[in-house]
Amino acid sequence: MVSSAQRGTWGSKAGFILAAAGSAVGLGNIWGFPTQVGQGGGAVFVLVYLLCVLLICLPIMVAELTIGRYAQLDPVGSFAAIRPGTRWWLVGVLGVLAGAGILSFYSVIAGWAIAYIWFTATGAVTGDAEAVSAFFGTFTANGPLNIGLMMVVLVTTAAVLFGGVQSGIERVTKLMMPALIALLLILAMRAITLPGASEGLAYYLRPDFSRLLDPTVINAALGQAFFSLSLGMGAMLTYGSYLSKRESIVTAACWVVALDTSMALLAGFIIFPSGFSIAGFDPSASGPGLIFAVLPRLFATLPGGHLFGAAFFILLTMAALSSTISLLEVPVAHFIDAHKWSRRRAVLLVTIAVFLIGIPSALANGAVGLFGSLPGLSMDFLSLMATIWNNFALPIGGFLTAVFVGWVWRTDNAIEEVMRNGAPFPGRALWSFLIRWVCPVAIATIIVYTIASM
Ligand code: PHE
Repeated sequence: MVSSAQRGTWGSKAGFILAAAGSAVGLGNIWGFPTQVGQGGGAVFVLVYLLCVLLICLPIMVAELTIGRYAQLDPVGSFAAIRPGTRWWLVGVLGVLAGAGILSFYSVIAGWAIAYIWFTATGAVTGDAEAVSAFFGTFTANGPLNIGLMMVVLVTTAAVLFGGVQSGIERVTKLMMPALIALLLILAMRAITLPGASEGLAYYLRPDFSRLLDPTVINAALGQAFFSLSLGMGAMLTYGSYLSKRESIVTAACWVVALDTSMALLAGFIIFPSGFSIAGFDPSASGPGLIFAVLPRLFATLPGGHLFGAAFFILLTMAALSSTISLLEVPVAHFIDAHKWSRRRAVLLVTIAVFLIGIPSALANGAVGLFGSLPGLSMDFLSLMATIWNNFALPIGGFLTAVFVGWVWRTDNAIEEVMRNGAPFPGRALWSFLIRWVCPVAIATIIVYTIASM
């Protein structure tokens, strides 16, 4: 086992919470959540999402952090160390694959955010709603540009990871997070005071209960909750492995979940009121371009809108980067811990592999027809990747993590690790119940229900 001095640990508790929140808060909150709410029919999606976060994801967040801190290894090594001689390490392998798979399409969207820094600052994207969404279409149809932007994201991520855990990750997030919260608050206040905003608020807050049992809504909400909280693939497990034995896992988990969820909700308070203030707006029709179609119109209503726009996309890019860092860190930590590669080599080779897998996603929104609508799937390549990894791989990883902690490692051992050095664990009986019964049963039911109704 590599000693913790070699692996690196967090500089402080606030540093850890910020870094874990940095992993959680990203495109999933500001791009993914509003997009999914739009496709999932508004407030009903929000409701199901919140239930998934509280009943399924928060307990699994505690479980992942605890496995990581106990084993002090990458996901594959952690499962193997706790139950040697079994196949449980395969859960870690699923996480390593998910890290690379998610990063491959995530870096494409992060590339869009980078481009929009320039587009908003220079005033390139202006005009009415139609012009703004046509602009987005023309931009994403530019294949070489999109591949180039994806490369910028991956190279920047790799550069941060060369620096190792503390100096790289912690420093970036400490500055970004408070600034992002402040800007989102300002934008939300502007959005809800626009004419027509109340229609957007109603859409966002008043559930249409007829869709409550719609399998696509439930599956998308579950997948979105895992994706947004960076769960089910060992990212939080890996971050937990850098967490010092003195810190309280439960406090950290609650902070991360609260920060992540409030940022997602806040993004909805920006997108829907401003979206509905545009004539003819249809939240379900815009797909992945939703925020890129709505936000430039919102900035146009603000004095100094160019500056707000550029600042927003700078912060969104930083939030995305603190997530790409954690996505890349999972496979990288694996190759360092399990195959004894140097950090440099691991970062380099994994980044190249992710770049290659990402190319079809970069070409999926207009550049190459085949990737834009896959034969027989009525879906583009990027959406296919997002569906495979977010809606299936992450919940399945979470299911296996819950079964592992609840029934194999057993919750009393996990509780002992959480309470090491006298840390309190309020609600531990409830947590055990959720991990042993509610999480596995709920996730399995949702996955089976989704597949059966396909
Ligand atoms: N949670 C990140 C976001 O919302 C994405 C992510 C998923 C990061 C899984 C790490 C692991 O943007």
